[in-house]
Amino acid sequence: MRVILASSEVFPYSKTGGLADVAGALPKALARIGCDISVVAPRYIGLGRRHGDISDDHTGELLFDDLSIPFAGGVRYAAVWRDWMDGAPIYFIDNAEYFGHGYIYGSGNFDVERFAFFSRASLELAKRIGGPPDIIHCNDWQTGFIPAYLATAYAGDSFFERTATLFTIHNLGYQGFFDPNLLSHLGFAWDVYQYGMEFHGMASAMKSGIYFSTALSTVSPKYAQEIQTPEFGNKLDGLLRWRRIDLIGILNGVDYHEWSPETDRNIAVNYSINDLGGKLECKRDLLQRYRLPADLEKPVVAIISRLTTQKGIDLVAQSIWRMLEAGALFIVLGSGAESYENYFQHVRDTLPQQVGVYFGYNNTLAHQIEAGADMFLMPSAYEPCGLNQMYSLKYGTVPIVRGVGGLDDTIHNFERATEKGNGYKFYDYSPDRLIEKFYEALMVYYDRDLWRKLQRNGMHADHSWDRVAHDYFDAYQRVAAAKK
Ligand code: ADP
Ligand code: GLC
Repeated sequence: MRVILASSEVFPYSKTGGLADVAGALPKALARIGCDISVVAPRYIGLGRRHGDISDDHTGELLFDDLSIPFAGGVRYAAVWRDWMDGAPIYFIDNAEYFGHGYIYGSGNFDVERFAFFSRASLELAKRIGGPPDIIHCNDWQTGFIPAYLATAYAGDSFFERTATLFTIHNLGYQGFFDPNLLSHLGFAWDVYQYGMEFHGMASAMKSGIYFSTALSTVSPKYAQEIQTPEFGNKLDGLLRWRRIDLIGILNGVDYHEWSPETDRNIAVNYSINDLGGKLECKRDLLQRYRLPADLEKPVVAIISRLTTQKGIDLVAQSIWRMLEAGALFIVLGSGAESYENYFQHVRDTLPQQVGVYFGYNNTLAHQIEAGADMFLMPSAYEPCGLNQMYSLKYGTVPIVRGVGGLDDTIHNFERATEKGNGYKFYDYSPDRLIEKFYEALMVYYDRDLWRKLQRNGMHADHSWDRVAHDYFDAYQRVAAAKK
């Protein structure tokens, strides 16, 4: 089974969110079970430490500098670098015009052009690095043109004759909309737009991936169902219902090499399910970092998030005062909408002894928060999978979530009577429901033995990629067979 996985972000080279974690871990797990997998990603220049720390000396060796790519009415060139993610090679497409601007995502038509170029370059790369792939595994709109190019520009190309595509939806909320006038520049005919990319007068790269791929997956079973409904389907639910036989949900895994309190080198003291003593030291350390008093008795409630409406930040904003009134300490790590940052800054300025904020991207701090916090909030409006709730489980940090997407699949209410469950979950999108769950958690928090039980229930969970990799491997085999 020969697979090429294309992703616009891959941890530890580049990251804005969970896609990077998935693309950084799944290939390693697949390689471990004998899958011949290569990763392809853009080589961003000048990111600094803002989104991971890709840099000139971080992308391995220069393989060749003459990859020619038919694009934008002519031929463009890219250099190709190669590094190793344990057993899986990662190839970087290096073109300064498109990826040399010091950011991962911009906006508008130029962004779509950048990733159309990346998509086309990935296909040209495939021809240079070995035999035909059985599967090209595409991820989100940035790679949504790969299946479309295969179905059009490469339709008669014998190299890709037996190549199937799996298109994974990580987030339907970002679609890569563009002006249909750009189509010919990207190398597509008008009819391709009409049946496979048109979206209410605009064009959508996400729709392209959904329409042209051999098969589809998304990152949790629940989200696979949800996106077929108008509420969560972002106006693509009709198309997704049409393709439902080809759509599966595979829950993301966790890279426990990165995210385990036993071995995590970012945290003050390591600890384990058998000895949670170190977690208190991590809490002390975290409070100190955020310049908060060492009130170790008080519960520390945290969020680590992109500050967008997706993440239910307005529910947090509407309930934070009540949590603070109940004596909680509150910690924020996030970046995104300025209005949310300003709001949390205002809360901090009002109660500096109880609230700590850090705006920006900080991976080390994310680990320190998972280790040092008592409760973790994820009241998302929608959540394809969500990784932080699974990291929280491993660190004995109790998640309080809204029951959508992967959050519903992974978090189960803790019941005092049975002592079963690993966190707290509510359904209505309402600050009152969130607060109810917070109070429920608080009651248990003050009952030390019961809280330990709840923490341990979470720490027992095994979401390792090694298990999930088998699901992908099976899916690859089915999809490849369907193509042949
Ligand atoms: P999403 O991909 O929708 O943002 P996930 O829960 O799947 O949500 O993944 C988010 C990932 O990004 C996690 O690894 C989380 O720790 C990380 N993350 C989010 N915000 C920050 C931040 N400000 N600093 C560091 N890491 C962050
Ligand atoms: C997206 C989703 C998130 C998911 C991640 C990785 O960013 O918002 O829920 O965990 O992709 O699949």
